[in-house]
Amino acid sequence: MRGDLRAIDQHGQPSVTRAEPYYLPSGDEVALFEQCHARRLAVMLKGPTGCGKTRFLEHMAWRLQCPLVTISCHDDLTASDLIGRFLIRHDGTIWQDGPLTRAVREGAICYLDEVVEARQDTVVVLHPLTDYRRMLPIDKTGETIEAAAGFQLVVSYNPGYQHLLKDLKPSTRQRFVALDFEFPAGDREAAIIEREGGADRATARALVSLGHRLRGLRDRGLAEVPSTRLLIAAARLISSGISVRQACYSAVISPLSDDESLVGAMRDLVDATFV
Ligand SMILES: Nc1ncnc2c1ncn2[C@@H]1O[C@H](COP(=O)(O)OP(=O)(O)OP(=O)(O)O)[C@@H](O)[C@H]1O
Ligand SMILES: [Mg+2]
Repeated sequence: MRGDLRAIDQHGQPSVTRAEPYYLPSGDEVALFEQCHARRLAVMLKGPTGCGKTRFLEHMAWRLQCPLVTISCHDDLTASDLIGRFLIRHDGTIWQDGPLTRAVREGAICYLDEVVEARQDTVVVLHPLTDYRRMLPIDKTGETIEAAAGFQLVVSYNPGYQHLLKDLKPSTRQRFVALDFEFPAGDREAAIIEREGGADRATARALVSLGHRLRGLRDRGLAEVPSTRLLIAAARLISSGISVRQACYSAVISPLSDDESLVGAMRDLVDATFV
């Protein structure tokens, strides 16, 4: 039954996703992902922070009735953190599967968030899982496991900013079908803000218009532009009674920059939007 889908975090704690995770599609990404899942193709979700990549995947896992294992990547993540390790206990040594191995055995969708943060020697353990054999060799136990039906590797990647020095190797990139995400178009973003932020339609539309104006400051040196996530945070504050200007300052402007002149320019845009 769809309503009883299990999700497992990287510490192996199962949780229950009861309700359908709300996701408003922008194009044909749902059908494309479904085909990738059916054809056993690994997927890379590309797009800026806060544009809906994680929400999309939660929605897809619910649609496909697959457990979802999420792993947040960072540069201390080792192959053992993914695959597993021997644990020494008072009564002997036992093997404990890592989250990737659990996903392979259980036929889960394994989501590596911000994969570019992981070291390359960690990322290469994914390679044998992305070709037609779908195998995971576990050197420490001598075992090689074949991925259960339903297993799918999904990674996310924010192109553009952090990675002057870090990037995925071509031999990694070329193992994934890439789905490109952008901030939703105006009407859709307003519908998302209305629903997720509990705002009325007029406020949601005004926040979208503010978002577009602020995104235009990219050319004037604003390195990070506001995501849908930030606009939702402002909507939540407004709908809980905080004044519009305070909400926009605290939830949108201040998180984006410390530069006084940019902050001033952003405040002016708030005033121009909410006259
Ligand atoms: N198309 C959408 N449908 C429904 N909600 C959306 C959509 N796009 C964005 N959101 C909302 O925006 C929030 C942020 O999206 P999400 O966490 O999925 O971003 P992300 O792309 O995974 O960001 P990051 O790269 O920082 O992890 C979600 O919690 C959700 O409320
Ligand atoms: Mg995410």
